Amino acid sequence: MNIHALLVNRFTEALQEMGVENAPVPVSRSARPEFGEYQFNGAMALAKELRQKPRDIAEKIVETVKLDDIASKLEVAGPGFINVHLNDAWLSNQCELSLTDPRLGIAKSPEQNIVVDYSSPNLAKEMHVGHLRTTIIGDAVVKVLEFLGHNVIRQNHMGDWGTQFGMLLAHLSDKLQEEVAETALSDLEDFYREAKVRFDEEEGFADRAREYVVKLQGGDAQCLALWEKFIDVSIAHSEEVYDKLNVSLTRKDIMGESAYNEDLANVISDLKAKGIAVEDQGAQVVFIPELADKDGNPAVYIVQKSGGGYLYATTDLAAMRYRSGKLNADRTLILTDARQALHFKQTEIVGRKAGFMKEEQTYEHCPFGMMLGSDGKPFKTRTGGTVKLVELLDEAVERAGKLIAERDNDLSEAELKEVARKVGIGAVKYADLSKNRTTDYMFNWDSMLSFEGNTAPYLQYAYTRVKSLFRKAGVDMATMPVDINIVEKQEHALAVLLMQFEEVIGMVSREATPHVLCTYLYDVASAFMTFYEACPMLKDGIEPAVRDSRLALSALVAKTLEKGLALLGIETLEKM
Ligand code: ARG
Repeated sequence: MNIHALLVNRFTEALQEMGVENAPVPVSRSARPEFGEYQFNGAMALAKELRQKPRDIAEKIVETVKLDDIASKLEVAGPGFINVHLNDAWLSNQCELSLTDPRLGIAKSPEQNIVVDYSSPNLAKEMHVGHLRTTIIGDAVVKVLEFLGHNVIRQNHMGDWGTQFGMLLAHLSDKLQEEVAETALSDLEDFYREAKVRFDEEEGFADRAREYVVKLQGGDAQCLALWEKFIDVSIAHSEEVYDKLNVSLTRKDIMGESAYNEDLANVISDLKAKGIAVEDQGAQVVFIPELADKDGNPAVYIVQKSGGGYLYATTDLAAMRYRSGKLNADRTLILTDARQALHFKQTEIVGRKAGFMKEEQTYEHCPFGMMLGSDGKPFKTRTGGTVKLVELLDEAVERAGKLIAERDNDLSEAELKEVARKVGIGAVKYADLSKNRTTDYMFNWDSMLSFEGNTAPYLQYAYTRVKSLFRKAGVDMATMPVDINIVEKQEHALAVLLMQFEEVIGMVSREATPHVLCTYLYDVASAFMTFYEACPMLKDGIEPAVRDSRLALSALVAKTLEKGLALLGIETLEKM
């Protein structure tokens, strides 16, 4: 159920009946419950056109609009707002419909092809915290879009190509005299450092590294085999992280930079033929007047270096054309940190000028802030090194295990292990998902693992509370009577929230902002706790019909939390 869309429809019809066509129909959620749940605030803007006072227009709309089934009360407030108070009988009925629907009453959207470019680590090095956010947020966005019925095409645009591989392959070929690739590359960070030291200091090594680059680009078979070995082991490192994080990326989603190699020369010749790229000091560049500095100098976007080498930008142009033409992407979402915002802005301008995408296709860079340590500086180990993701995730599970063991519980050893995994991983993911993605956020073990506040453990716990309520009541959610009758204000508040799930998911799908869903689930869990205190279910003397109605509402809470957390990629538990 999308209450917002429904109200927009009804107000649109009313305005048409009053002879007003094509006016905006602004409906928003009310700030305070005493103003009802929704507010129409379009009357003020009509005053001029209708030559009437806004309040009179609002009165007229209230007379005209057909909301008897949905609203218990409409009132004109302030300069001409219309407050909508939702009707308990209607809400009860909508909750029943949601509860008996496997999709919880959430309609599918008209299907679109949506490319989501996320995770995309550089394979020359270990995956680091910078790739944690794109992986987690991207995976949640993908799940939401798929739930809405879209055809989502994951694109893991891995950095698997470039001059740095010359140095790495030269080093690897030496190492393979004594070791197998898996051992030699067991620590990519160390391996990279060793290769770099040799490159900087060892006589003749830099030349060999450059030879390898030339051979690799020339398609030399031996060199390619070595490269493939490297890439393969490095991908396996990423897969270990994906596995622990429980994200949905697989090998078939990989479309690394190397995949566009063949097409880069075409991109340049196309840009040149269209007069978009021009030569400048031996390089091929595009001048972008739309992004001029304050002195009017256009931004310079390099697409080919003077030596003939291609760049990150060239590959992104090739990727854009592929996604538009071959994948038919209605939307392309790219998740990287905010420092790349300018690059994607420029890429979009240049690509559109070149006709690499159709006008109606969107190119949406979704930036996010950095992950900071408790000291407010970029997240690093105590000695200043990069934090290995695998170790970070293991630590999360270990810490969660200790916390759960300290709490009152009747879990077996095996159950405890499972709970620790779900809570630990859930906490790390949720901490990231719940923050507005555009801001930096501070990584803090204590707050993310807290059982209070907007955290994964709090929501997972709220879910187990409902589950244990049903165990105590001896009621099976799957076969229980579904007869909801909303009477109390806590029931009303909870029901309104439950009916806003579709609106929230719609927002996440449009803006790629999972934190909106997190806030929503937190509100649902909190409203449930308030309802649970005020509206007893298992106490003596509660009428069976009242009890059943409240249990049914609680069941919808459990299903909403379960579905919402699943969309965020967070697992729920039966008990903890
Ligand atoms: N590999 C890049 C990095 O680690 C991210 C790639 C994002 N996707 C893209 N199409 N450029 O920063």
